[in-house]
Amino acid sequence: TLIFPTSTDAARHVATLMAKMIRENNASGVPTVLGLATGSTPVGLYRELIRMHKEENLDFSRVVTFNLDEYFPMPKDDSHSYNRWMQETLFSHINIKPENVHIPDGTVKPGAVADHCERYEEAIRKAGGIDIQILGIGRTGHIGFNEPGSPKTARTRLVTLDPVTKRDAASGFFGEENVPQQAITMGTATILEARKVILMAFGEHKAPTVQKAVENPPSESIAASFLQEHSDSTFILDAAAASDL
Ligand code: GLP
Repeated sequence: TLIFPTSTDAARHVATLMAKMIRENNASGVPTVLGLATGSTPVGLYRELIRMHKEENLDFSRVVTFNLDEYFPMPKDDSHSYNRWMQETLFSHINIKPENVHIPDGTVKPGAVADHCERYEEAIRKAGGIDIQILGIGRTGHIGFNEPGSPKTARTRLVTLDPVTKRDAASGFFGEENVPQQAITMGTATILEARKVILMAFGEHKAPTVQKAVENPPSESIAASFLQEHSDSTFILDAAAASDL
């Protein structure tokens, strides 16, 4: 666990670490495979990466990305779509190649979801696995959309959102009744296979969940608690999110 005075300091730390890996890999001509998250938490990180691209020539042309999740069903251009959000927040501002971007597809037919999920896992494997996985954490302790009860062995799949998660998303959807019931998410096992995992949590409202994830024994009731069993995982917190530790 690393605690920073502010979320800006924390975002800068993570961006620096990612930039270092991207630059080293670029120099050796190998791709960097990033696992990316949505939500308010990684916004500062993406802003800093964009700044590094524009001001310090950070080159994303060999970077390959896999996003954690997408609501289901969800059109790609919908204002709530994580596909659209990633384009607007990060991808349209850097020189990443569209063919290197992977995000679960909320437009596949219900009958084709299982196959889509399998192909998503396969694409991660073909890319050589994830070098750095960025995570936020939901109030239910979810990483991606691995809600309480998600086993450690879970792979990319269709899940039902927890009522707490829907409540937290409600304002963005103008009411809880408009929040999709389901999502496609990378599984806990998929996430745990990343070589390096960074979970960021900022703000007082995250403190109780962070405390359980860090200090309780790993269990299905808090998916993020499984990160304790990962050999290279770090919780990056601001002082407020660390206040219950
Ligand atoms: C959503 C996302 C998660 C994210 C969580 C927390 O449920 N699917 O990936 O970590 O919200 O969001 P925020 O960062 O806005 O607090």
